[in-house]
Amino acid sequence: TTKIILDCDPGHDDAIALLLAHGNPEIDLVAVTTVHGNQTIEKVTRNALAVATVAGITGVPFAAGAHRPLVREAEVAESIHGDSGLDGPVLPEPAFAAEDRHAVDLIIDTIMSHEPGTITLVPTGALTNIALAVRKEPRIAGRVKEVVLMGGGYHVGNWSASAEFNIVIDPEAAHIVFNESWKLTMVGLDVTHQALATPEVVAAITTIDTAPARFVLELLEFFAHSYKDAQGFDHPPVHDPCAVALVIDPTVMKVVRVPLDVELTGTLTLGMTVADFREEAPETCNTYAATDLDHAKFWGLITDALERIGDP
Ligand code: BDR
Ligand code: CA
Repeated sequence: TTKIILDCDPGHDDAIALLLAHGNPEIDLVAVTTVHGNQTIEKVTRNALAVATVAGITGVPFAAGAHRPLVREAEVAESIHGDSGLDGPVLPEPAFAAEDRHAVDLIIDTIMSHEPGTITLVPTGALTNIALAVRKEPRIAGRVKEVVLMGGGYHVGNWSASAEFNIVIDPEAAHIVFNESWKLTMVGLDVTHQALATPEVVAAITTIDTAPARFVLELLEFFAHSYKDAQGFDHPPVHDPCAVALVIDPTVMKVVRVPLDVELTGTLTLGMTVADFREEAPETCNTYAATDLDHAKFWGLITDALERIGDP
C-alpha cells in the first residue's frame, strides 16, 4: 500500500478523490489537509469533514490550512462548485472536527514521523500549504516519496487561456512546489479533460445504490450543469481523483518525463505550467507530466472504491 496525504479544497472532484483514496485498498490515507480554493477555507474544511462523514472515514486526522494565497488575493470557483463549494447534495453535519493543528504542521509532522520515502503528497487544490510546509521544514523535500498533484497542463488552460485554476490562483506557491528537489508528477488538464463522467459512468454508479454512491451522483449532477454552463462541456471532467488514481495504478495513464516550470510574470500567461518538450529530458529532470488516460480503468477504480465503501 502507499501512504498518502491528500491536500484538497472540496470541491466536487476533491470529494470524489477523497472517496477513492478511502475506498481503494492500495491507499493508506494518513492525513487530510484543506486549503483555500474552490471556496473559503471554512467552507472547504466543513465540506471535507462532511464527505468523511458520508464515507464513514474515522481515525484519520483532518486539519485546515492556508486561508489565502501567498501573494495574491483569494479567488474562489463559485461558478463551478457553487456557494457552499459542494452544491448539490444535502451535506450532513460532520461527525468529527478538524484538529487544532495547522495543516502545514500536520503535513510536516506526518512526513517527518514516517520512514523516509514512504509518504506521497497528493495536492488537489492550490499549492499554498505545500509551499509553506517545504519552506518551514525543507527536509520534507528529501523525505517524501513523491508529489502527485492535480493542476496545470501543458499549454492548456481553464481559468485563463493558458493557466489552470489550482496553479493560477497561487502561482508563487506553485512555483515553489514545481522547483523543489522532490519527484513531482503533474496530473493536469491534458489528462483530466479525458476523465469525463459520461452517461455510462453515471449508470454504473447508479447500480451501486448506496448512500455514498447516491452522494456522488448528486455531486456529478451539479458538476455536469456547472461545467456545461461555465465551460461548455457535454460531460463534466472529474479532475482530482485522477491524481489519486495514478498513485494507485501507474498503468491508468501515460506519464512522460519533461522539465516543467510555472510562469510568474506573463501578462497573458500568469500561472502557465510550461513544459519543455524540445528534446529528451535530462537525467537530472525530476518533473513528469501525465498524458493519456485509460478511461475505463479510471472509472473502474472509482466504482470499485464505492462498492468497497458500501453503506457505512
Ligand atoms: C481544479 O480546480 C478545482 O476547481 C477542481 O477541484 C480541480 O482541483 C481543476 O482545474
Ligand atoms: Ca480541487
